[in-house]
Amino acid sequence: MVRSPAQPEGRTRTDKARRTLSIFGATGSIGVSTADVVLQHRDSFDIEVVTAQSRAEELAETAIRLGAKHAVIGDPDRLEVLRARLAGTGIGVAAGPAAIVEAASRPVDLAVAAIVGAAGLEPTLAAIDAGADIALANKECMVCAGGLFNRRAAAASVRVLPVDSEHDAIFQSLEANNLHAVERITITASGGPFRTATLDEMRRATPAEALKHPRWAMGPKISIDSATMMNKGLELIEAHHLFDIGSARLDVLVHPQSIVHGFVTYSDGSVVAQLGVADMRIPISHCLNWPRRVETATPRLDLATVGTLSFEKPDLQRFPALRVARTALENGDWATNILNAANEVAVQAFLDGAIGYLEIAATVEAVLDVATGTVGGTELDTLEAVLTLDREGRRLAAERIDSRGRRAG
Ligand SMILES: NC(=O)c1ccc[n+]([C@@H]2O[C@H](COP(=O)([O-])OP(=O)(O)OC[C@H]3O[C@@H](n4cnc5c(N)ncnc54)[C@H](OP(=O)(O)O)[C@@H]3O)[C@@H](O)[C@H]2O)c1
Repeated sequence: MVRSPAQPEGRTRTDKARRTLSIFGATGSIGVSTADVVLQHRDSFDIEVVTAQSRAEELAETAIRLGAKHAVIGDPDRLEVLRARLAGTGIGVAAGPAAIVEAASRPVDLAVAAIVGAAGLEPTLAAIDAGADIALANKECMVCAGGLFNRRAAAASVRVLPVDSEHDAIFQSLEANNLHAVERITITASGGPFRTATLDEMRRATPAEALKHPRWAMGPKISIDSATMMNKGLELIEAHHLFDIGSARLDVLVHPQSIVHGFVTYSDGSVVAQLGVADMRIPISHCLNWPRRVETATPRLDLATVGTLSFEKPDLQRFPALRVARTALENGDWATNILNAANEVAVQAFLDGAIGYLEIAATVEAVLDVATGTVGGTELDTLEAVLTLDREGRRLAAERIDSRGRRAG
């Protein structure tokens, strides 16, 4: 039987008409869309905390627009800018990674986890421990520490509501009374900017080309993950943890129009899907307001104009990251932790011009090969164990990238 974020029934924290909310990663793509959704229904939310890493001016502006009580910046060197911008507003300021974790401990009904990368794990766990339901955009949290994450959420009796459009689609397609009858879960992928590219074109791909997503406007890390399809691999792992379903019953289908975000196949042959235009304000609004639906200022889906919906199997030759991620999922939490760490390092190296596009997946696979013989099977029972393994994955990836650079130079 799969699990639904709607379980267990009867809890009331997110049923309140007016909710307290914190937004972690408020200046990013998801953060900005979240602010839009909140501002459309200003009377439904009280904002406790907003955070960012370095964009202090944008953070200050967001804090003022949302009427937040606290604004926290990760980079301590940006504190003075934040303080100056918020002088006289009464909004509290703080800086540093520990201050973000501390801010996450402030009790709220719902915490939006929209920091990018494993950096979001500690604040999200702190919010869970403080009893907040989680609107989860930060999939890397789940990928680097899925088992620990779920145990902490269960211990605190909090709900994890998936913001990722594919997982939100599955959330919407799961029938509470028929979880035992779910046969398969399928998430879709646009195919990214290189869906039809040849391997030769991919070899020469520049960061600017890889960042140009055909359907979604997103932050740089997830845009590169979409180009390699590692994003879909991370989402398979996220789906496994969110819905408690094994790799063998999880599918990925390439759907270039990005209209059908995911679907559930039931044992009676019925397929229930969620459709919508490619606009993250739809899943964000669903999570922020769940179990109610409220008006959202997004374009409406017009299927006659879309005309054709097409689907194809992913090409694992040209997109090996998806295969590597699925193997990691099947090998367990230690492997997905290493996968995530190595991928974060490789994506940054690609953006910095240190490696080519095809080297991203190759680096992750090579790091996993080495790690299998050294840290394979490591139990991730504690946050410390998760962070130690994450550092090892980053070290191995940096070492490989560095040694290749030296050989090339
Ligand atoms: N964008 C989408 O459409 C989308 C869809 C589904 C899921 N997601 C997931 O949502 C998460 C956020 O994606 P995004 O596209 O919104 O990313 P983004 O635009 O790059 O924004 C990232 C946010 O995190 C902050 N941040 C970065 N590094 C940090 C650190 N070390 N400590 C604390 N805060 C840090 C950034 O602050 P600064 O602005 O100051 O740098 C920014 O507020 C990712 O996990 C992504 O996979 C995104």
